[in-house]
Formats: sequence, C-alpha cells, structure tokens
Amino acid sequence: RKIPLIAPSILSADFMRLGEEVTAIDRDGADWIHVDVMDGHFVPNMTFGPSMVAALRRQTDKPLDVHLMIAPADPYLESFAQAGANHIYVHCEGNPHVHRSLQTIRKSGAIPGIAICPGTPPEALTYLMEELDLILVMTVNPGFGGQKFIDAQIGKIEILRAMADATGRDIRIGVDGGIDPTTAPRVVKAGADMLVAGTAVYGQPDYRKAISDLRDAGMR
Ligand code: DX5
Ligand code: ZN
Repeated sequence: RKIPLIAPSILSADFMRLGEEVTAIDRDGADWIHVDVMDGHFVPNMTFGPSMVAALRRQTDKPLDVHLMIAPADPYLESFAQAGANHIYVHCEGNPHVHRSLQTIRKSGAIPGIAICPGTPPEALTYLMEELDLILVMTVNPGFGGQKFIDAQIGKIEILRAMADATGRDIRIGVDGGIDPTTAPRVVKAGADMLVAGTAVYGQPDYRKAISDLRDAGMR
C-alpha cells in the first residue's frame, strides 16, 4: 500500500482568517489543498468561485485540488484552470458531457478528475477511465462538511480500484466525506490513496498532529 496523500478541505476553515488557515495546513504537512466549489443548484450550499482559487494560488504553492459541485460545469472549466487549479473534478451526475469536460480540463492545463456521488454506481466511470487521472469517491452526499461516513461506499472504492488498475495507468483514487482516523484505514485498504478531510483537520486544535494522524491511520 502507498502512503495516502492528505488533502485538508478549506470548507471547514475559519473563512475570516482563510489566508492564515491555508498557510497553517501548508506548513503542517498537507499534500494538497482541497477546494469545495458549490453553486446552490447542484448542491444545496454555496461557496467560492475562480477568484477565490486565484487568491489561494497566491497564498500557497501546494497543488490546489478543486472539487466542482456545480452544474453545468463546462462554462467554468477554463476559468478555474486559469485561476491556478492544479486538479479539477467534475461530477458525473448533472453534467451530460463529462467525457468532453475531462478533455477540456486537460487542454486547459489542469489534471482531470471525476467525482462520484454515493448513489451513483461505479460503472458510470467505465467509459471515462481513459480520459481521467483522478477519481473522487464521495463517502457523504456532497454539500456540507461534518457528515457521517457512508459505509456502503467501501465496496465502490474496491471496484473503482480494480477498474483503475486495469487501465495500466496511474490513477489516484481520493475519498471525500467523513474521513477521520477510524475511516481512513478502511478506505485505504479498499484502494484509496488520497484522503480529503475537513472536520478531521480544521476541527482539531493541532493541524500538524491531525494531518499526521490521518496519514498514519491510513497506513495501519
Ligand atoms: C462535501 C465536501 C467535502 C467536505 C468534507 O460536500 O466535498 O470536501 O469538506 O468534510 P468532512 O471531512 O468534514 O466530511
Ligand atoms: Zn470535496
């Protein structure tokens, strides 16, 4: 098993002190910075747009892992890439032409990924595998931090890991929602190699310890 990458989600940060909150996880060992973009339409919550990604870009050199919970996503892909997003995920639900979206993301200079909701079967990704480098398995219904991990998603991670390995390419599988030191070892055993964590990092007093606890738990 690989050492899982840790991507704290700034959704759970103190927005009034966002610059410091990003610098803190950067310094305290975050591998990637996870940015949850919500439109109040695809998900029942709203957050940031491309100008926030540009501001984050000025604050850190760590890869910006941009999770687009927006529909349609296509009109905004280039803007997010130009703002400095390193990785861009589109949801396979709510976007009719994600195969093309993945190509657009790559052409824009970012690394393309698909995010998949808890209710969507893994087979939704069968004909997208050649176009993607990243998969983000939602282990909660997207929209909010601090929700409970959905156990039934473990089987989906195993299936997606087998599908990813069958391509012969290096596809990273991230897991997003309810990840903490208890759920981390379970998802990594199932085949995940990137962990998004909002509450389990920003809800803790010591970010460095929280990040290393997650990484250690993932290797257990
Ligand atoms: C949920 C977001 C997640 C969220 C995870 O819609 O995609 O990235 O920040 O938060 P926790 O880790 O608290 O479940
Ligand atoms: Zn997310």
